Amino acid sequence: MLQPVYVLGGGQTKFGELWDFSLADLIRSAVDGAIAATKILPTDIDAVVIGNMLGGETAEQAHLGTFCSSLLPHHPPALRVEAACASGGIAIHTACALLESNRAETVLVIGAEKLTDVAGELVTSALMHAADAEKDGPSGLTFPGIFALTATAYMHKYNLSRDDLSLVSALSHKAAVKNPYAQFRKEIPAASISRSPLVADPLRLLDCSPITDGAAALILSTKHESGVRLAASQIGTEALSLTDRASITSFTSTKTAFANALSEAGWKRNDIDAIELHDCFSIASLIHLEDMGFAPEGEAIQLYKQGDTDIDGACPINTSGGLKACGHPIGATGVKQVLDCFKQLTKQAPNQVQNAKRVLAHNLGGVGATCTIHLLESI
Ligand code: COA
Repeated sequence: MLQPVYVLGGGQTKFGELWDFSLADLIRSAVDGAIAATKILPTDIDAVVIGNMLGGETAEQAHLGTFCSSLLPHHPPALRVEAACASGGIAIHTACALLESNRAETVLVIGAEKLTDVAGELVTSALMHAADAEKDGPSGLTFPGIFALTATAYMHKYNLSRDDLSLVSALSHKAAVKNPYAQFRKEIPAASISRSPLVADPLRLLDCSPITDGAAALILSTKHESGVRLAASQIGTEALSLTDRASITSFTSTKTAFANALSEAGWKRNDIDAIELHDCFSIASLIHLEDMGFAPEGEAIQLYKQGDTDIDGACPINTSGGLKACGHPIGATGVKQVLDCFKQLTKQAPNQVQNAKRVLAHNLGGVGATCTIHLLESI
């Protein structure tokens, strides 16, 4: 980072099917929570950035930057950014750019999405806007369908069994039991995941992150200090269309963003004490861990089998419950992941990793076309 960026704290709504709340209600609630948690004055906020993908399509509300700015008495500059499921991570990166360039000293970052007021088919087709409309769209694939292709390719290439894949979702569901903000707070054994209804072969219902409403907000500052600093904020991208990729079992965007983040922070991989990982589909978690070098290609499942991904393991994953069990309100996810990392470092996490000092948030947009990595450390 060009100068120290501190995470002052944040707030979030519960994630879930929140029929009694509009997109505006969710944003207001997360912003109020963030301001109350950090005890800054609303007028201390110099700029607002919101990450959102589908406000116009699913909540009839676009122009969200100014909507958020209107919640503050002094109407600071504000903008909305979009990078599909990585919209939240991109919002944080944009806030860092404003802070590092001295355009602002304190920035309110929000991620929000309201998906459940419209029919599921509309959400499914709107989410496909994250893929390449000319090359991938005409195939008729959906996101569960695309990740099912990656799962089929991966399972064939590395001989991964259906029951092994179920270990990934089981871990997230176990963690979410203690998280009051999570959509699904029920422990689900791997055997039940393997038997859940088929969505897109080989992916079953319990391999998929759900359709979710929710919002999260964070306050970042170069002026006000806290015990948690952002050590790196990086974006990686790669070809939008799957047809232009050399591989569908690895995402270059993650490799690039992670390597650049380690170099920006001056960390080594094994400095990281916990990871919030973008488990939009169970197979994705294995791919991400391999792309970041936590396991050789085809072997990430061993981390789950050996207990390395558990709360007391070498590499605890998704101690919040991840996207799978917390839910995945698209634009909110990347902001909520960094809030969870902040909670981990300030001992407010629902599942606390002992002596966690350095943590990672990995947020993915599309089928790995965009990746943001945020590294946070306690100081
Ligand atoms: N995990 C756990 N439970 C889930 C769930 C999930 N992913 N999705 C739904 N459920 C539960 C519901 O709560 C409901 O339970 P209930 O009957 O007790 O109320 C039941 O399963 C059926 O839910 P329903 O909403 O009818 O499911 P659906 O078939 O309409 O949708 C998916 C299921 C998996 C197709 C949908 O959640 C989906 O498309 N997920 C992926 C979203 C996506 O692509 N995001 C972008 C990622 S890149």
